[in-house]
Amino acid sequence: MATKNSYIPFSSIVVVVVMISCVNVSQFCYAQNVPIVKGLSWSFYDKSCPEAESIVRKQLKKVFKDDIGQAAGLLRLHFHDCFGCDGSVLLDGSASGPSEQDAPPNLTLRARAFEIINDLRARIHKKCGQVVSCSDIAALAARDSVFLSGGPDYPVPLGRRDGLTFATQNATSANLPSPRSNASVILASLETKKLDATDTVALSGGHTIGLSHCSSFTNRLYPTQDPVMDQTFAKNLKAVCPAATTNATTVLDIRSPDLFDNKYYVDLMNRQGLFTSDQDLYSYSKTKNIVIDFAVNQTLFFEKFFVAMTKMGQLSVLTGSQGEIRANCSVRNSDNKAYLASVVDEDGERLSAF
Ligand code: HEM
Repeated sequence: MATKNSYIPFSSIVVVVVMISCVNVSQFCYAQNVPIVKGLSWSFYDKSCPEAESIVRKQLKKVFKDDIGQAAGLLRLHFHDCFGCDGSVLLDGSASGPSEQDAPPNLTLRARAFEIINDLRARIHKKCGQVVSCSDIAALAARDSVFLSGGPDYPVPLGRRDGLTFATQNATSANLPSPRSNASVILASLETKKLDATDTVALSGGHTIGLSHCSSFTNRLYPTQDPVMDQTFAKNLKAVCPAATTNATTVLDIRSPDLFDNKYYVDLMNRQGLFTSDQDLYSYSKTKNIVIDFAVNQTLFFEKFFVAMTKMGQLSVLTGSQGEIRANCSVRNSDNKAYLASVVDEDGERLSAF
């Protein structure tokens, strides 16, 4: 996991001019409003693998037709990879230590999400060779999860390289805030990554899809019920989770659990947010009005979500000659030599593993 990120400075004048020219929320307009890190580009694979994005989208359409829940798993996987978006969360543990996957916040990532990423990698490498990184595939899969669940379509800057190291469990836990944190703690945590209050509220809108285990929110039910929580909502949650440790799941957004929309913010305004970290965004003075703005204006939420995801998706990325392009998203190439040797193709140079 790299430690530094370097944004290309954008003058506010440029941003204002561009925004005025972007009346429609097209992919093109989205792309111009956010600075991108040196080494990433909106057209990175245009020559080396122009099919990469269409392969991801086509395959995910099929996956989600069978189970739309996988969209939430993939969106969360990208978030947990970021704060070093280098594919390190995808690595299995090795002789040099346990993987990021073993860190407590990652234990509830869906196993199927890891399989889907590796399957996408295999499809892309089959078409283009070993040129597209696992971290880029995870970023594209997150975008398509949003779009195919009803959310905005937006471009993703590409060119990330895959990391050679994985974060320690302590670093992972420190980077991923707890659902029991209040808004001020969440804001402070994301501020260290140069994500502001609007970014934080927009990113939390990722909870418009997907599931949570009881253990992530029963602190609000037992031993005493959080007085902020809506009574009927609390009663229904207690039925799903009769004890703090019940092994069951419930939806994050009761109004439209599988749809990427702005109803999560409507939930918060009705005191039906699942986690303290969600609900407190509506109590805290610095974030309350942003919640209201997003609850009444879905287009605004979508725009700010794109901006925040694009910022988050570039945190501590590896580019250029840093890192590597993994032949298998779960294993560093150095741990995978025997496997790679068996799949060197006829010209003896390009490797592709399926
Ligand atoms: C701001 C701090 C955040 C906290 C404290 C947090 C916490 C959590 C927790 C505790 C769960 C449920 C885990 C479980 O019990 O199974 C969860 C699920 C989820 N989170 Fe977050 N999260 C945060 C930010 C984000 C961001 C930025 C995104 C994406 C943009 C995101 C997307 C998701 C999704 C989609 C799920 C559902 C996953 C599934 O159904 O498999 N979260 N989050």
